[in-house]
Amino acid sequence: MPASELVAADVAALVDAARQARGHALASYSGFAVGAALRCGDGRVFSGCNIENASYGLTMCAERVALFKALSEGARSFTAIAVVTGAETPTPPCGACRQLLWEFCANIHVVLAGVGGVRAEHDLAALLPAPFDGGSLRR
Ligand code: THU
Repeated sequence: MPASELVAADVAALVDAARQARGHALASYSGFAVGAALRCGDGRVFSGCNIENASYGLTMCAERVALFKALSEGARSFTAIAVVTGAETPTPPCGACRQLLWEFCANIHVVLAGVGGVRAEHDLAALLPAPFDGGSLRR
């Protein structure tokens, strides 16, 4: 389903799911709690929060937690992801998350929200120009 078929109620529900997931964040090292919610083509929503740990470097972003949960449950078609933080400015996914979202979700709609509401929306392609494409591995 193209992102353009997402209606406002779908976006609002997705942001709400990300906001709820943010409440589960394990972010005691950075103090920066993030929630994400990924919407599937069939309407299912998988959410995630960032998971920090004493190693620091093994921290996992909220977006990838949501993506891995969805993939591990068999979901393969995605339309949008919402990311909620407590920042004043929009906080787009980090580069690693953009790359994985591109590989598994293609050009999904990315909704960035703060606790007060939606702050920005993009198509993933605008956030990851000239991506590495797994298709290049075919020889
Ligand atoms: N974080 C995310 O969850 N998603 C991002 O796209 C960027 C950063 C998390 C990782 C870390 O727990 C905290 O935010 C501060 O970087």
